[in-house]
Amino acid sequence: MASIVSTLTLSNALLILLLSCCAANAQLSANFYANSCPNLQTIVRNAMTQAVNRETRKGASILRLFFHDCFVNGCDASILLDDTATFTGEKNAAPNRNSVRGFDVIDTIKSNVEAACNATVSCADILALAARDGVVLLGGPTWQVPLGRRDARTASQSAANSQIPSPASNLATLISSFSSKGLSARDLTALSGGHTIGQARCTTFRARIYNDTNIDPNFAATRRANCPASGGDNNLAPLDIQTPARFDNNYYRNLVAQRGLLHSDQELFNGGSQDALVQTYSSNANTFSSDFVAAMVRMGNISPLTGSSGEIRKNCRVVN
Ligand code: HEM
Repeated sequence: MASIVSTLTLSNALLILLLSCCAANAQLSANFYANSCPNLQTIVRNAMTQAVNRETRKGASILRLFFHDCFVNGCDASILLDDTATFTGEKNAAPNRNSVRGFDVIDTIKSNVEAACNATVSCADILALAARDGVVLLGGPTWQVPLGRRDARTASQSAANSQIPSPASNLATLISSFSSKGLSARDLTALSGGHTIGQARCTTFRARIYNDTNIDPNFAATRRANCPASGGDNNLAPLDIQTPARFDNNYYRNLVAQRGLLHSDQELFNGGSQDALVQTYSSNANTFSSDFVAAMVRMGNISPLTGSSGEIRKNCRVVN
């Protein structure tokens, strides 16, 4: 009897393993909406062009939204859900509160997409396309975005608090954070190149410019001028001091010159395992571009909901 039970348990376990393996690896495909919403990519690109023309930083903000979506239970648009009296989403988690932005752009894109193809395209896929377009519009590389994700019916503030890496992280912590999402150290270093665009608040880099020693003193002085030792928490500085509105490889040149803005940025070039790769990216923009693109596709593949899991949200801010 005991052996029958254990055989059954074993075969159930195998079945569960098999199902969870294949659900997690369900293939996304670039032509997922080719018949159901043929103008999708044009609609997203047009709205992103308008948004970036109005404010270049929006391209950066949307790229970050996608990262913060994917790192919390997969790329399922959970970050887009608003808090309500009865629902706690991710927008007020510590890494997001008063920090992530661009929700208005996603709302505009979603309503344009709904007008053309009602109840067809997920918010998770819209975010993936918009992030790619933000990079392209700021002068970065392009790529085909695998599609077919569906939207979560849930969100997790606690997972957002614990799984999005902090700017105080050291290299080992960053590598293990990315590794827990199936991403390599090389992916970490390539994806951190997202910090070639956009801005950060004083509160996220104060400890670095006042306490770190692996920092160019002139750079530290420049940043201290607008980020006092106390107060001014929301004062902004560009993550890439040279070309903050241009998606290029200057982020890595900054790191080599000890001008990384965040402590976590400079950890990638501080005598450790990623130094050589940072050097390579700093002198070879094409290698950076192709690694960044490959890593973006891998990040976009983190635990998507597919098939009949999740839903196609009508409004990205609320569960249907
Ligand atoms: C490696 C770990 C990472 C850490 C610790 C980190 C941390 C941060 C922090 C602290 C900020 C400033 C937030 C604020 O001041 O409100 C920021 C901004 C930003 N991050 Fe990251 N980040 C990481 C990885 C990434 C990745 C993988 C991407 C995208 C591929 C990315 C894209 C961005 C962008 C574009 C901004 C600027 C956003 C804007 O201007 O609105 N980051 N990041």
